[in-house]
Amino acid sequence: MTNQATLILIKPDGLKKSLTGNILTRLSETKLEIVAAKIARVSKELAEEHYRHLKDKPFFEDIIKYIRGELHNRHKVMALVYWGEEAITKCRQLAGSTNPEEAESTSIRGSYGRITTSGVYENVIHVSSDEKEAEREIKLWFQPDEVIVSLYPTKDVVEKEKKIKAWG
Ligand code: PPS
Repeated sequence: MTNQATLILIKPDGLKKSLTGNILTRLSETKLEIVAAKIARVSKELAEEHYRHLKDKPFFEDIIKYIRGELHNRHKVMALVYWGEEAITKCRQLAGSTNPEEAESTSIRGSYGRITTSGVYENVIHVSSDEKEAEREIKLWFQPDEVIVSLYPTKDVVEKEKKIKAWG
């Protein structure tokens, strides 16, 4: 058994339908550890990078709008990293099939997902597909110091003259 990390996104429809609590409760069945969590606005760049492998799909523009909250007037997602034994397999099992109509009815997507009239899956959560994608996605959504365990190698970088916002 190997420890794995996976990115989970609770998508804007999940937030709009107040499903955060339900989804986190379902995911807690896995006994995995949450090692990073935040509410995030999703820039166009972040969305396009996240779904870059789907750039040529007919639904690409729609999933960018969807993950950015433009379809639900909720411009945020909840991003989490779950970590532990077989994390990807366990979370994907609870999430159910990508297509909500094919997802087992008791799974998260089977319970709360739908397909829009234009054929886009509104499937409430995203789960990384494999370890390679998980690493790419976690590095995209989180900085090393936002994750409380050391998942991947890091390096010290000195950034000069970088303007950051501090508490006033
Ligand atoms: S693939 O085809 O295996 O490369 O795609 P996959 O990695 O499963 O990701 C597909 C994401 O696009 C979302 N999406 C759809 N996929 C297929 N068909 C339709 N109509 C569609 N609409 C949306 C799908 O939900 C996957 O995103 P995530 O965030 O992983 O759920």
